[in-house]
Amino acid sequence: MLPVELKKDIFWVGAEDFGRRDFHGYSLSPRGTTYNAYLLKDRKNVLFDTVDAQAAASMLDRLEQVLPVSKVDYIVTNHLEPDHAGALAYMVERCRPEKIFCSAAGLKSMAGHFDISGWPVQAVQNGETISAGRRSIRFVETRMLHWPDSMFSYIPEEKLLISGDAFGQNLASGCRYADEIDHALLVHAIEEYYYNIVLPFSPQVLKTLDLAAELKLEPEIVAPDHGLVFRRPEDAAFILDKYRELALQRPRKKALIFYDTMWRSTERLAGMVAEGLDKSRVSCRVMNLKNHHHSEVMTELAGCGAVIAGSPTHNNGVLPLVSAMLTYMKGLRPLNRLGGTFGSYGWSGEAQKHIAESMEGMKMEQPVSPVKCLFKPKAGDLAAAFALGEQIGAVLADRCRE
Ligand code: FEO
Repeated sequence: MLPVELKKDIFWVGAEDFGRRDFHGYSLSPRGTTYNAYLLKDRKNVLFDTVDAQAAASMLDRLEQVLPVSKVDYIVTNHLEPDHAGALAYMVERCRPEKIFCSAAGLKSMAGHFDISGWPVQAVQNGETISAGRRSIRFVETRMLHWPDSMFSYIPEEKLLISGDAFGQNLASGCRYADEIDHALLVHAIEEYYYNIVLPFSPQVLKTLDLAAELKLEPEIVAPDHGLVFRRPEDAAFILDKYRELALQRPRKKALIFYDTMWRSTERLAGMVAEGLDKSRVSCRVMNLKNHHHSEVMTELAGCGAVIAGSPTHNNGVLPLVSAMLTYMKGLRPLNRLGGTFGSYGWSGEAQKHIAESMEGMKMEQPVSPVKCLFKPKAGDLAAAFALGEQIGAVLADRCRE
């Protein structure tokens, strides 16, 4: 992969990881990922971020096609997570930079990851601007978007925003630009990334978007640290608007049903819940957790205003996959969802109580009582599951009209 010139003397020098499937140890990246790093050539040559450690040599090779590595004057680390700073020590050793810039919180992260004694590290203030020559770099702290150390680097002369993890996507495609790829695939990748990484920080997203407007950043190019670059003004506007939409989490007229099952009784109930939703003209996605990874289910939630979870009672609790799914979802703090639960039991039947409590913890309104059936669902149980779907569907449809 060759370096790519985004603008005159500004290059993508990152790396693509086509084979990465386990992203950060807890979510999936079915299309691989990209570690983006950028080089600004000016009176001071500035490298923005690095790559995962295993891609260090590939990045160095790419950078040296544009500039001898020893000519890099400054390294800016917008974020210290190892997929961006994994090659930092490797690059520092080869560049011997005059300065390494990071946020104040970045200093702590950097010291936690590396032996930085002897490194020329300088923590920058929020809003501080440095000169690289013809171009300048303004640093904007984006604390908890998604780490305490995260910050943006903005080059006003080029209207270029280097945005760290914000606005990223896990896509290794051979393409560099968002306008080069199927739009539906792009949107899916944005939602997948947002719902598995950024979602808990939605309040910070809204704050950052407002701050960017207040500071009159007005980027025309948005260059995230993963995936494709939004190079046209309309693409930059699209991704900023998309993030506002994702952060607001307004109700969507679609429901997510996820479940696990032992002897298929809970699965039969899931089918009836789906039929009930259909009666209320609310579409749904039904996901058996044995077939879908928790990050895939979480991505689906992006388009859904209701979550209905099914589990039989097992050892007085819920089945492990359901428990794991709820734990994962709760940590990602979805907002504005309706909830509901169903499942079979043999002798005690506590699963629905556990699921309902977990949904309460996510502030999900549960307008319909849980549906439970003893062993195999009878006609009355199937009708109750249908009614669960129909009633939740009706409330959701109303909410989407408001
Ligand atoms: Fe892409 Fe927070 O790492």
